[in-house]
Amino acid sequence: MVERTVRGSHAPLSAKGSDPLEGGRGLFGVRNSRARGPGYACCVKRVALLGATGSIGRQALEIVEAHPELELVAASSGSQSIDGLAPHTQVGGDLTELLERAQPDVVLNAIVGFAGLPATLWALDRGVTLALANKESLVAAGDLALAARERGGGLLLPVDSEHSAAFQCLEGRDPATVATLVLTASGGPFRGRTRADLEHVTVDEALAHPTWRMGPKITIDSATLANKGLELIEAHFLFGLDYDRVQVVVHPTSTVHALVWFRDGAALAHIGYPDMRVPISYALTYPERAATPIAPLDLAAGVTLEFEAPDEDTFPMLALAREAGERGGTYPAAYNAANEVAVAAFLEGRLAFLGISDVVERALASVDGAAACDLTELVEADREARRAAESVLEPVA
Ligand SMILES: NC(=O)c1ccc[n+]([C@@H]2O[C@H](COP(=O)([O-])OP(=O)(O)OC[C@H]3O[C@@H](n4cnc5c(N)ncnc54)[C@H](OP(=O)(O)O)[C@@H]3O)[C@@H](O)[C@H]2O)c1
Repeated sequence: MVERTVRGSHAPLSAKGSDPLEGGRGLFGVRNSRARGPGYACCVKRVALLGATGSIGRQALEIVEAHPELELVAASSGSQSIDGLAPHTQVGGDLTELLERAQPDVVLNAIVGFAGLPATLWALDRGVTLALANKESLVAAGDLALAARERGGGLLLPVDSEHSAAFQCLEGRDPATVATLVLTASGGPFRGRTRADLEHVTVDEALAHPTWRMGPKITIDSATLANKGLELIEAHFLFGLDYDRVQVVVHPTSTVHALVWFRDGAALAHIGYPDMRVPISYALTYPERAATPIAPLDLAAGVTLEFEAPDEDTFPMLALAREAGERGGTYPAAYNAANEVAVAAFLEGRLAFLGISDVVERALASVDGAAACDLTELVEADREARRAAESVLEPVA
């Protein structure tokens, strides 16, 4: 972070119509600009936003714009033009070059898929704070990513709402006191359906998520429960919990984002309206927890908390993820790669919805799964799983 003077050009976000910063303690422990006059010294975080044109990226821009203490120094997209969005921009290509040029304090990795891996490893290796939405990179790289974090010694802050919630419930706790982490799943648009019901569902039906507005890949992952499978593996690596200590439950309103059971029978839960700006803001302004415009849950209006077990027969992607995670090695990377291939094929109309899990199951059965010693071996394992998925695509399509 750099020390510099900020002009009060942006209005800070405020909750529930009032400005909690007005006249009081502002972000990062300094009084806000309106309380102090036109300029004041504070720490500025230089933010690199990767995947700036996506669902997470656009919401992150809103957070950055509202906080003068966050300075956008770099932005990237996969193909859309982002000219002028930040001093350093890049469309596609090797994003570690962009990061080297920009030298950010925090990288918000909001790229979709395995393509986000080099940026994740770049930040972890250098001890640059990583705000991680791109769960696929941690799922695929697992042990390599944790080794990079160990070397770099920086912060790894989850942006996935469930993991941000779990991070907050777990922070400062003795791991020995934690019994189980519960990840909640909305159940997606096909909750309550049978396999027979799902035989002919369309792409548009699968993209109609009941509680979250997200990019197409994660929306399909939510419909198959692969998203929760990826999150299960992500939680294992983020929090160092064995798979039998991470439970998934369906919670249709997405009000409880995560819940941690402790060994004394008590539980801590993180609750609120489903709004990704909360975990994005938490990660970008950590540990200050800046204000956001999102209202707290209106408890007086009545809040019903419903939970149920996931239907793993209709949605096999969750059990496949647990199995891949427990087998370890590059099985999680293969799960992710095969899923990316299958979801792309579904979105292109080349594969039926139920075919997604068939492709992943058959790809997992055919790969080697041996642990990767380095990035080259991991990339090869990813390619092997993609080839396996492509080769089984034709017969099940
Ligand atoms: N959306 C959510 O609410 C949510 C919640 C939790 C976690 N996440 C995770 O956050 C990540 C992003 O999700 P999203 O919903 O924001 O996805 P999205 O809307 O599809 O956006 C993806 C972003 O990544 C860029 N991109 C795509 N392929 C790329 C490549 N090969 N190289 C570089 N950049 C590439 C896209 O650029 P173009 O626009 O130019 O294609 C876009 O900026 C995913 O890992 C997802 O699982 C999302």
